[in-house]
Amino acid sequence: MSTEANTRTFTHLLVTGGAGFIGSNFVHRTLATRPEVKIHVLDALTYAANPDNLKTEEGIPLEEAYPGRFTFTKGDIVNSAVVDDVVGELAREASGGDGRTSGAAIVHCAAESHNDNSLVDPGVFARTNVEGTVNLAAAAVRHNVFLHHISTDEVFGDLALDDPQRFTTATPYRPSSPYSASKASADHFIRAFIRSKGLRATVSNCSNNYGPRQHPEKFIPRQITALIEGKKPRLYGQGLNVRDWIHVDDHNDAVWTILEKGTEGETYLIGADGERSNIQVVRDLLRIFGQQPNAFLHVTDRPGHDRRYAIDPISIRSLGWEPVYWSFDAGLRETVAWYQNNQQWWKEARVASEEKYSQTEREL
Ligand code: NAD
Ligand code: DAU
Repeated sequence: MSTEANTRTFTHLLVTGGAGFIGSNFVHRTLATRPEVKIHVLDALTYAANPDNLKTEEGIPLEEAYPGRFTFTKGDIVNSAVVDDVVGELAREASGGDGRTSGAAIVHCAAESHNDNSLVDPGVFARTNVEGTVNLAAAAVRHNVFLHHISTDEVFGDLALDDPQRFTTATPYRPSSPYSASKASADHFIRAFIRSKGLRATVSNCSNNYGPRQHPEKFIPRQITALIEGKKPRLYGQGLNVRDWIHVDDHNDAVWTILEKGTEGETYLIGADGERSNIQVVRDLLRIFGQQPNAFLHVTDRPGHDRRYAIDPISIRSLGWEPVYWSFDAGLRETVAWYQNNQQWWKEARVASEEKYSQTEREL
């Protein structure tokens, strides 16, 4: 790894959670655009993963599409022995036998990621998001491997709808769901390992992602897949809550910017000035599907529902990154087309998540 002028070069990556939404988009984009990089994915293949995420759009397994550049281990980050093996192997591969592990990094995406699930079963969020992250940080220290920790803007809690401030790196942590509490805890562990155990790491807190391969339990794909099936979008409460949307490719490009140019030990907030209320997003989708603006349902609100997230992206912009997807409408249309063209990808997962929602959700 070269640290001159704050630039690093990585040739061997371990991507945890690489069979999920953000991780798989990171893997595909990296394999397609950075021929010098080899990727190993460690993923437990929970309900949130889709094995098809580790194939090309044509259905070719990534191992075959990128011979010698892609490998996969099915494993749980809560299992410290598995984590140590995989991180140790990454370090050995990157060192080329001379003991230096400078070209290796972990991009840590694996997590339980859905707020609604965390209200039902918080324990698994503590295990995966906190204990799993501690295992990775400890293995990274042991094998002297760099780690980039992917976190969320939800650690800061929420903002009033009319608050002139946005989240910055100085905003205090105030998580409100078991999911965001587990991510906040993981962030604290990473920073504690940086300060007291010599972990070489960076952290990013990103806003809401959208794009291909997002599980149909999440807001945007849930509404797109409903509309494809001729059903109505379902808005929690009045739909006035605001999220700050960013395309997943813009997020992943920002992660690469931090890997290469970020200051060790620093935190970067990633956002693309994409604030929209949920009702606005539903109306955008209804317009794309040629339907009337009020053709949606109001359903039970989420307990403790955060009102608004908004990122001040100055920290990531200072590294020279800027989003490519300036138009939310264009990104949304591309995403709709992806779900229309890949219905076998989401059908089964949608049946399962709608079954879960039906246990708690009622029309208002
Ligand atoms: P996701 O739920 O789509 O994918 C998570 C992946 O992690 C899945 O492949 C799953 O199988 C794997 N996983 C879960 N538990 C595991 C375990 N114990 N061991 C190994 N693998 C395990 O999540 P996502 O939306 O891609 O989010 C990825 C990361 O980005 C998470 O850390 C999340 O907190 C963060 N994040 C997400 C968003 C967003 O809008 N989706 C925004 C900011 C930050
Ligand atoms: O801000 C980053 C976070 O964004 C990530 O850390 C999380 O992993 C990711 O899931 C996301 O969290 P949210 O809770 O904001 O996302 P979700 O897609 O669950 O909901 C987005 C908004 O839409 C939220 O205000 C709740 C609302 N919603 C959600 C669903 C599933 C609805 O109105 N109807 C729905 O059917």
